[in-house]
Amino acid sequence: MAEAPVWHHAPAFNQDRPHYALALAIKPTAVAVARELVKAALQEWEATLFCDDAVLVTSELVTNAVRVEPEKLVFMIDYVVADGLLNLSVWDDGPGVPEPREPDFVNESGRGLWIIENLSRTWGWEPTPGLGGKITWAQLGCGEETATD
Ligand SMILES: Nc1ncnc2c1ncn2[C@@H]1O[C@H](COP(=O)(O)OP(=O)(O)O)[C@@H](O)[C@H]1O
Ligand SMILES: [Mg+2]
Repeated sequence: MAEAPVWHHAPAFNQDRPHYALALAIKPTAVAVARELVKAALQEWEATLFCDDAVLVTSELVTNAVRVEPEKLVFMIDYVVADGLLNLSVWDDGPGVPEPREPDFVNESGRGLWIIENLSRTWGWEPTPGLGGKITWAQLGCGEETATD
C-alpha cells in the first residue's frame, strides 16, 4: 500500500491551498534550495511581504534538520490566502527533537528556534508516527494586524 504523503502529517497543511512540497537532499545546499522555493512561491502568490521573515525561518528550520543527518527531509510551504497566513513545515526522520534554548548572543549557536519564535505567530513540532522523526512548523502572519494594533 502506498505510504501516506508526509504532508498528511503537517498540522496546518491543506492541499486545497496554494502549496509546494519538496524532498531535499541532505546537504547544506538544501537550505539554499528551500530559500529559493520560498521566494518563488511568494512571488507567485503575490505575498512577497512575507519574504524576509519566511526566508529566515526557512533557513533555520532546514539547517536544523540537515544537521541531524536524517535519511529523508521534506520542506512544505502553503499559503492561506483568505487569512494571509503562511505555513512553513519541515519533516526530517533524523534523531532528536527541537529544544529551544536561551539564546547566547556571544555564542554562534542556539539562536535558530529563538528567531523562529520571534518571527512567527506560532510554531511547534510533533512526532510523525509511522514515518519516524518529526515535523517542525511555523506559521507567519502577513503583519497587517501589527500595522493596525
Ligand atoms: N529538526 C531537528 N531535529 C533534531 N533536533 C533539533 C531539530 N531542530 C532543532 N533541534 C534541537 O534544538 C536545538 C536548538 O536549535 P536552534 O535554536 O536552532 O539552535 P542551534 O541549531 O544553533 O543548536 C538544536 O541544537 C537541536 O538539538
Ligand atoms: Mg539551528
